[in-house]
Amino acid sequence: MNNTEYKEAMQTLNLWSKHYYVLDDPITTDEVYDKLYHKIIEYEELNPDILDSNSPTQRVGDMISEGFTKEPHLSRMWSLEDIFDKEGLDKWLTKTYKLDSNISFYCEPKYDGASLNLIYENGVLVKGVTRGDGTIGELITRNVKTIKSIPLTVEHKETIEIRGEIVIFKDEFERINKRRLAEGEAVFANPRNAAAGSLRQLDSSVTAKRNLVFLPYGVGIDTLEYKYLSDKMEYIYSLGFRKPPQRAVTQGYDEIEEIYEVMNRDRDSYDMMLDGMVVKVNEIAAQIDMGYTVKVPRFSVAYKFPAVEKITTVKEIILQVGRTGAVTPVAIVEPTDIDGVVVERATLHNFDEIERKDIRLGDKVIILRSGDVIPKIIKVLTHERTGDEVQVIKPTHCPVCESELLQEEVLLKCQNLECDARVVNSIMYFASKPCLNIDGLGVKIVEALFKSGLVKSVVDLFDLDLEKLLELEGFKEKKSQNLLNSLVNAKGQDYWRFINSLGIEHIGEVASKTLAENFGFSFVTATKEQIIECEGIGEEMAESVLEFVRVNTETITKLQTILEPLEPVKREEAKENPFKGKTVVLTGTMSESRGVIKEMIETLGAKVSGSISKKTDFLIYGEDAGSKYDKAEKLGVKTLTEGEMRELI
Ligand code: IVH
Repeated sequence: MNNTEYKEAMQTLNLWSKHYYVLDDPITTDEVYDKLYHKIIEYEELNPDILDSNSPTQRVGDMISEGFTKEPHLSRMWSLEDIFDKEGLDKWLTKTYKLDSNISFYCEPKYDGASLNLIYENGVLVKGVTRGDGTIGELITRNVKTIKSIPLTVEHKETIEIRGEIVIFKDEFERINKRRLAEGEAVFANPRNAAAGSLRQLDSSVTAKRNLVFLPYGVGIDTLEYKYLSDKMEYIYSLGFRKPPQRAVTQGYDEIEEIYEVMNRDRDSYDMMLDGMVVKVNEIAAQIDMGYTVKVPRFSVAYKFPAVEKITTVKEIILQVGRTGAVTPVAIVEPTDIDGVVVERATLHNFDEIERKDIRLGDKVIILRSGDVIPKIIKVLTHERTGDEVQVIKPTHCPVCESELLQEEVLLKCQNLECDARVVNSIMYFASKPCLNIDGLGVKIVEALFKSGLVKSVVDLFDLDLEKLLELEGFKEKKSQNLLNSLVNAKGQDYWRFINSLGIEHIGEVASKTLAENFGFSFVTATKEQIIECEGIGEEMAESVLEFVRVNTETITKLQTILEPLEPVKREEAKENPFKGKTVVLTGTMSESRGVIKEMIETLGAKVSGSISKKTDFLIYGEDAGSKYDKAEKLGVKTLTEGEMRELI
């Protein structure tokens, strides 16, 4: 790197950083940012005299956006030095042990969200301040007060600053984006952006709806006299804050490496996104001795996980036709290794989304892979376009059966009920886990059965026999017999599975259970009024059931005769008790699994429903109750803690 390149790199980093911190609209990945950032650190270390005051290494974060009042932090909010590998850890440990050889380390996740400072005076939350530039942030107290994991009062009278990260859980993120998609709005790029954006809403009721979560990771000014950080943090958790999903006090390199491996291995199973593990010197006296560089503490380091966001190129857009006829575009991208998995395709949801993001063939894009879900394109790098990119044209005809496609709200749909893709996918759905859970009916086998003409609908599956199967290519005796056995096992299952397997539009697992419980075998003769009476079933769903039954009575009867599903048993009449005949909703974490509590309440003659409405009689809540609790309060539904519920019975 020479001086010109240094200046250029600085400008690029500042632009990226503005997109990230100020506009909540990243235009590159953390990994690419970190690489360049470290290059300029290296250059600055070698050439200390040319250090530019505008260098991103000289300040952390960026300006404050308009709309909120500026507010100084009582003590500075620091940033962290990043390390990426064993070598980095080794170097940091060597440096740290030189300052003090008699130390242990507190390890906890590095949450991928937005940092927040909470100020409590006389045991009351008086201010919530965003990080801003570390010295001055934005006052967002009203928004902060809507966040359920932040106690409004604490049993601690002296002034204290509690610092932590605001995150959005992955399932909540999916839920928000699903709704935004259905309503034709742009989706959030990732949970971190969704959290930061939601935190800085000018309308705090929007923040309230987003189910943000606060995870404390430290304190600013305080009067606490603990010898160890781990004890200090235990005290903070005891004031009513969330604990990390994983934490440990460790001695030395091997133990740190071990917990890092565990956290990285398990990261997909955590509710929130993590981007690394933070290692902190546990002895507070040693922390004070070690102090800070101009921008980071010497006693702490962020040990980053491999990136889950990568840059790749869109090669092709293919179309998939689902069982409902919905045609979804899928991007085929230049194969890219993301944390050990080679990613070759990414979902695009629908054509509106392609238009909104203006995704073109040949575009450089950022893709995000988290958990088992299909990777998503979260950003097009329009500034990298060469002019050779090709616009994606919305299809007018089904790529499988060539019949005309119709736009139904945000979805483009094939209307042909006999479209090969629709039939194959309906069979796959019929056999899937939340339906009849038939082993051995993977896509290849279903396609082969369909192509041979042996299976044109799910009913035909049950006419298969060994002789017929053995005539098919690739079907040996064992494979054929296994399939026939699985088909026998599809019989005699719970009735809700039967209903779910029919694939009625708008009727998923929960609604199938409701219908099975309320009507048993007579769900086919239920009237619209009766169906709407059921908790959680609205008009559109009821109409969908009636229409499906009208068109498919014969198939339903046939399937029911073949499959012999079990009719739900009516419970014995419960003795008088406060829950008898009532509708109850459960939320949060309780002392026993949700299934056990549900069973207990149902035995008392109550109905347990999945969602709150005016018809709900009680909401019973455990730890970390979220949006359901808010909704219950709003609708005036009586709320009970698990303990209160147990007392009543
Ligand atoms: S400690 C004294 N601990 O990461 C050091 N930070 O890259 C202050 N972060 O601004 C930070 N999880 O917003 C710390 N367990 C954790 C964290 C954490 C996430 C964020 C925090 C900070 C940024 C620094």
